Amino acid sequence: MRILFLGDVVGRSGREAVLARLPRLREALRADLCVVNAENASHGFGLAPDMAEAILAAGADAITLGNHAWDRKEIIPYIAQQARVIRPLNFPPGTPGGGSVLVDLADGRKALVLNAMGRLFMDALDDPFRGTAELLARYKLGASVGAIVADFHAEATSEKLAYAHSFDGSVSLVVGTHTHVPTSDHQILPGGTAYQTDAGMCGDYDSVIGMGKQGAAARFWHKMPGERLAPAEGEATVCGLFVETEDRTGLAVRVEPVRVGGRLSEVMPAV
Ligand SMILES: [Fe+2]
Ligand SMILES: [Fe+2]
Repeated sequence: MRILFLGDVVGRSGREAVLARLPRLREALRADLCVVNAENASHGFGLAPDMAEAILAAGADAITLGNHAWDRKEIIPYIAQQARVIRPLNFPPGTPGGGSVLVDLADGRKALVLNAMGRLFMDALDDPFRGTAELLARYKLGASVGAIVADFHAEATSEKLAYAHSFDGSVSLVVGTHTHVPTSDHQILPGGTAYQTDAGMCGDYDSVIGMGKQGAAARFWHKMPGERLAPAEGEATVCGLFVETEDRTGLAVRVEPVRVGGRLSEVMPAV
């Protein structure tokens, strides 16, 4: 199975780049499954339902979120009826929406997409490790599902690596999101799980993690409330990764970064 994952979509610049590029990216990579983290799509904070629908229509099979899941209140009734938009599974029981979704691919294969959130330097949530293990106990990679993609939304690289090694061999891909900068440690772990500490954002990289650099820097210079942060508006780099799995096992045989447009050097896997 060929999987395309795109990191946090930030603001108008990120949205426009993803909407414009995703259909051709999907085609060029002959992707069977596409997952997009869109927690910052609405002006940097949250995801409005119309933007979610546009990203799904452009070719995402599932949308993941993170700590900004509830910034746009309209998402609450929407996520309860749109199963393809998921929020971290370790929110407390009773939280609207789901933490995973089973996607039916066009050719009949099934893929499980899950979203979990770290706890180091983040809001205290339920345990993402136990929550993921409980979910995975219901699926068998390579049998009941062809692939499993885990978006681990976390601040600390240590927690991301600990999570990835914990589930090495039982999922196809663990990809980190939230820090908005692509890391260069993409690899297939010893058990066969593809991994990258952070996918990077889909946003303007002439910024402070997608936000206007003057306003963001002022917050560090002056410890006073300042203007509200707003997304940077230059051309976005669409960042993510491309994974190929073997159908028999559901494990990864290839992982490569994807970076298109904007300021970062371009990387496009040859398919
Ligand atoms: Fe984010
Ligand atoms: Fe985040």
